[in-house]
Amino acid sequence: MTDLAIAANGLRKSYGDKAVLDGVDLAVPEGTIFALLGPNGAGKTTAVKILSTLVSPDPASGEIRVGGHDLAADPQAVRAAIGVTGQFSAVDGLITGEENMLLMADLHHLSRSEGRRVAAGLLERFDLVEAAKKPASTYSGGMKRRLDIAMTLVGGPRVIFLDEPTTGLDPRSRHTMWQIIRELVTGGVTVFLTTQYLEEADQLADRIAVLDGGRIVAEGTAEELKRLIPGGHVRLRFSDPAAYRRAVSALGEVTTDDEALALQIPSDGSQRELRSVLDRLDLAGIEADELTVHTPDLDDVFFALTGSAGLPRQSKESVR
Ligand SMILES: Nc1ncnc2c1ncn2[C@@H]1O[C@H](COP(=O)(O)OP(=O)(O)OP(=O)(O)O)[C@@H](O)[C@H]1O
Ligand SMILES: [Mg+2]
Repeated sequence: MTDLAIAANGLRKSYGDKAVLDGVDLAVPEGTIFALLGPNGAGKTTAVKILSTLVSPDPASGEIRVGGHDLAADPQAVRAAIGVTGQFSAVDGLITGEENMLLMADLHHLSRSEGRRVAAGLLERFDLVEAAKKPASTYSGGMKRRLDIAMTLVGGPRVIFLDEPTTGLDPRSRHTMWQIIRELVTGGVTVFLTTQYLEEADQLADRIAVLDGGRIVAEGTAEELKRLIPGGHVRLRFSDPAAYRRAVSALGEVTTDDEALALQIPSDGSQRELRSVLDRLDLAGIEADELTVHTPDLDDVFFALTGSAGLPRQSKESVR
């Protein structure tokens, strides 16, 4: 059995009579990246706050262990094992990047020289040496985010919580952040991240859980989640209405869009299926104006599983 960095059974949290988390189970093996995905208000930040001891779960929750420690019995030990980068920056804009780092070193009771050494190393690693002596308020969003994560690492945490680490970053900064997160894990650290970017979960996470309506509605690897939902298809578009109608009758089982003169054939996107579609069109002497192959991505999963159009809440889909 692999050791779990995070294990929660029946995690619950209500505010008033609103159940934000309504029995959430989590199992994150050490040294892996876990992504919690969900729409606005799903409870992602609430989950992070509970697992990082900032908010207490409802008493009805089952056992929660983080970094090998029982959250209820030994929150102090959990705090010593983790680092948290919140959804909203913890950077103090009035002081410099370096001062922010040294402040964190103080909070972690590092000696003065040790604090300076750790801060210098992290500033270097996060490409902030040049900016280190400038007030953090002058930093760009990407620089602030890097400083935020560097501050999280000062205490040498074994488990890191990143609440929407790349929200608001441009594509280049986002890729830099992904690289940083991957490097953290090669050092044996466990990363629990929340995101609304499906591509981010797809790129980074070993396992993904989709949170909606207070529950995990699906969990698995990106590949497993994509297999949960249909959505792979070939789409053909025509400009000639007559050709469109002939294609519909030649191809049989298709979904049609008369307005767009487009039709969709369910397909796994394989060469064999594609060739069969093309052969049937050739046989009927029809040429499409546009052909696109669509394989399901996490966006499809997200739309299929969350919100009002989602699966009934009871039918939790789990793939292992
Ligand atoms: N302290 C609080 N008091 C009352 N309600 C709260 C509190 N904190 C969170 N909530 C409610 O809990 C729900 C979940 O909030 P949470 O911030 O965890 O969602 P989220 O998934 O992080 O959303 P987002 O993607 O917008 O960050 C929301 O309906 C929110 O209004
Ligand atoms: Mg949030």
